[in-house]
Formats: sequence, structure tokens, C-alpha cells
Amino acid sequence: MDGIRLLILGTGGMARNHAEAFGQIPGVEIVGGVDTRPAQLDAFRADFGIPRGFASLDAALDWGQFDAVTNVTPDAAHHPTTMPLLAAGKHVLCEKPLATNAAEAWQMADAARAAGVVNMVNLSYRNVPALQEGARMVRDGAIGTVRHFEASYLQSWLTQPAWGEWRSEGQWLWRLSKAHGSKGVLGDVGIHILDFATFVAGLDVAEISARLATFDKAPGGRIGDYVLDANDSVTMQMRLRNGALGTVAATRFASGHLNDLRLRIYGDLGGMEVSFEGGVSRLRASLAADLQSASWHEIETPDVIPIYARFIAAIRGEDAADPDFARGAALQTLLDRAEESDREGGRSLTV
Ligand SMILES: NC(=O)c1ccc[n+]([C@@H]2O[C@H](COP(=O)([O-])OP(=O)(O)OC[C@H]3O[C@@H](n4cnc5c(N)ncnc54)[C@H](O)[C@@H]3O)[C@@H](O)[C@H]2O)c1
Repeated sequence: MDGIRLLILGTGGMARNHAEAFGQIPGVEIVGGVDTRPAQLDAFRADFGIPRGFASLDAALDWGQFDAVTNVTPDAAHHPTTMPLLAAGKHVLCEKPLATNAAEAWQMADAARAAGVVNMVNLSYRNVPALQEGARMVRDGAIGTVRHFEASYLQSWLTQPAWGEWRSEGQWLWRLSKAHGSKGVLGDVGIHILDFATFVAGLDVAEISARLATFDKAPGGRIGDYVLDANDSVTMQMRLRNGALGTVAATRFASGHLNDLRLRIYGDLGGMEVSFEGGVSRLRASLAADLQSASWHEIETPDVIPIYARFIAAIRGEDAADPDFARGAALQTLLDRAEESDREGGRSLTV
């Protein structure tokens, strides 16, 4: 399939990123946008010159003249909107987290496989060159057997307004409220750092324990319709399949960090630090001869083809659909286990 007709489902903040990226891929035509907020949809279509707009997914499906969809709705809408798209045989790139619980995420993965369509989840930090090169080096044995790691995802949009006012803007308020489908910082960015750590390690999680914290942020714990009950901070401990031990943390209260990810990973032959801080991708390692002096070196990293372009290449049969819905569902299982562990006072659970 050479020319690909793409529909953008959900035209909020993150959808701008999708429209810009897909708009630059040769042969991709953004044929329509869907949003339940008419004014938002109109402004978005005007900004990106999108010919058609639909007030609901059903209306877009009735029209039907598209091959693929990028689903950029809020987390709680991913499952109810993706299932009919799969039933209609459309290829789907879905934002993370795939759903709001593992059962629904696995339903999506199973339905996508049965439909035989391309299905990918936008774990966007796969686009970071240091992540891909770090994973390749670990796979090639550069640090030996992985024994230990520590990973963190640090944000601070609850302590300053660099990205807007969380107290008054819907795009931040739904992220703070369980009834609006949010799994808190755990689902919002915890999923990214879980993928970051386990993708580089090349190993699945065998055992996990977690503590979650939701801090008082407004009188009575609510703002308008939004009950502010979703977690703001999470710490997790985990054992990987090979016995390696590690910690993963994420928070919206890391004052001084806007959006910083870091993984330190150690094996019996070397250590590695993979970071994406201040928007800068960086890979450092201490290998073999460096170990005794504990010296560290910058590693050059080749460019990476972003997920948007790889989704289109996968539809054309030119690339693998990775990360796919099954990977998204496996990560969702970790999110559910983390919540369960916290409810049981941080008990360690097998995955
Ligand atoms: N991969 C990343 O790095 C990354 C970054 C930011 C956001 N995200 C994800 O992108 C998704 C959207 O986040 P956002 O910040 O753009 O949120 P947002 O609230 O700004 O935008 C969501 C849009 O979807 C619309 N919408 C809601 N329900 C709908 C439905 N049923 N049909 C059609 N439109 C509907 C809303 O009106 C809104 O315009 C979330 O799942 C979020 O986790 C991912």
C-alpha cells in the first residue's frame, strides 16, 4: 500500500505531535480528524489543513474512507474506540497506556492479532537513540549478565506552570482523576520508564512490588468534576527473569526536572547509563578495561527511525510493528500488579 489515508482520533495536545510527524511522511494523507469537542476539532483541522471532521468515531466509521488511525484520545477512551476500529480492519497506532487495565489491554492485543492489522503502541521513548543503542549493546553482551538497575522518570508539572496550569486545564486535570480513566503517574509515565528499563535490559519482569502516593493538592481533594485521587508518585522494586534486581520510580513532584528519564544498568562486565534529560539523548558506559578506574565514556548513537514512520513502514510491509499491542498489554499487566501490590502494603507479586 503506497498512499495511506490516516485518521487522527482525538485532537488535543499530543495529537499535534502526531499531525506534524505524519504530515511529513511521504505518501501519508491525513484525511480526517475526530473529536468530541467541536471547537477543538475545528481549530486543529485549520492548523493542519485536514479536510474532514467528525464529532464521533461512529460517524467516521460510517464514512470509512481511511486505512489507518492514530488514536490520541485520553487513556480511558483507548479501548472503547480501538475495538471497533480493529473490527473494521483498520491499522491502529494507539497512545500509551494501551487501556486502563490489563484485561482490556489484552483484549485489544488479541483482537488486533485476530484482525491481522498492524497494531503499535506509541512508547515514544523508543525514539531515543541512546535507548536503542543501549539495548543493542546489552543484547550483544557489552555489560555481561545484567545484575542490577535503577530507573527514574522525573516530572514537576504539579510544582510549576511550565506546561500550563494543572488546576484549570482539562488536559492536566483528567490525569489526576481515576474516574476520568487515569492511572496516575504510574499509567501516564511509569509505563514509559518500565518499558525503558526492561527494553534495555532485554528481560521481562518476574516479580514486582510498589508503593503509590497521592498528595493533598486542593481543598476537599477535588476541583470541579475532578476528584484528585490518582497517584502522583510511585516507587517499584522488581526482579527480572534472570534474577537481576532493580528499582523504577516516577513522580510529578520532582521540582527542578521538567521531563527527565534515566536508567543506570549494571552487569558483571560493565555499567551503562542511558538518559534523556532536558530533551538530550545520552549514552555513557564503563566497560571492561574501564572498570578498575571506574572511568566512563560517551558512546556514539546512530539515528533512530521514529515510531510514526515505522507504523507507516509496517503497513507497507517494510518494517516490523514493534512495539505492538502485545507489548503494551504486557506493560499494562505490570501497572495492574503495581496497583495490587500497593493495596497489599507493598507485597511482592509474581508477574
Ligand atoms: N507517547 C507520549 O509520549 C505521550 C505524551 C503525551 C500524551 N500521551 C497520550 O496521548 C493521549 C492523549 O493525551 P493528550 O495530552 O493529548 O490529552 P488531551 O486531553 O489534550 O487530548 C485528548 C483529546 O481527545 C478528545 N476525546 C476524548 N474522548 C474522545 C472520543 N471518544 N473520541 C474522540 N475524541 C475524544 C478530547 O476532546 C481531547 O481533545 C493520552 O493517552 C496520553 O497518555 C502520550
